[in-house]
Amino acid sequence: MLNYILILHLLGATIWTGGHLILALVVLPKALSSHNIDGLLQFEQLFEKIGMPALVVQIITGFWMAYQILPNISSWFTLDNDLSILISLKVLLLLMTTLVALHARFYRIPRLSAHTLKGFSVNIILVTLFSVTFVVVGTLFRTGLS
Ligand code: HEM
Repeated sequence: MLNYILILHLLGATIWTGGHLILALVVLPKALSSHNIDGLLQFEQLFEKIGMPALVVQIITGFWMAYQILPNISSWFTLDNDLSILISLKVLLLLMTTLVALHARFYRIPRLSAHTLKGFSVNIILVTLFSVTFVVVGTLFRTGLS
């Protein structure tokens, strides 16, 4: 069972992190250099359809695996062992991703134009950095921190 859940988690990670890397490294630079946001908006609209379900899968499978590893939920945040530190980091990353995404959704996107694109770029780059950090932290569950 754990193996199937891990496969779903890894597939979700390829979509969420891969999609954000394409957005930040290919789509965003093109929009910034051409001062045209059409391509960016089109990518966002298409990616939302698969990116948001992927994030939901990450959250469900992630918490499921965390519960298998440490069944006592209060021990997730004691920070006195590697597993607790890594689970806390995942939850912190999730909170930061949610805050930056909500700020984008309700503040940046309604005001988005070629002039305000630089501000929106900050949100895109932050969510992309968080998504890569999610992967790095994920790999540390197997190797440990030291
Ligand atoms: C977009 C968000 C996320 C991404 C991209 C991501 C990515 C990854 C990756 C690449 C691994 C490595 C799997 C392996 O070692 O084979 C992993 C493991 C793990 N992740 Fe996530 N993750 C995300 C969100 C979460 C969340 C919200 C949680 C909840 C606490 C979580 C909990 C875990 C756990 C417990 C493992 C260890 C699984 C194991 O090795 O048995 N992840 N994650």
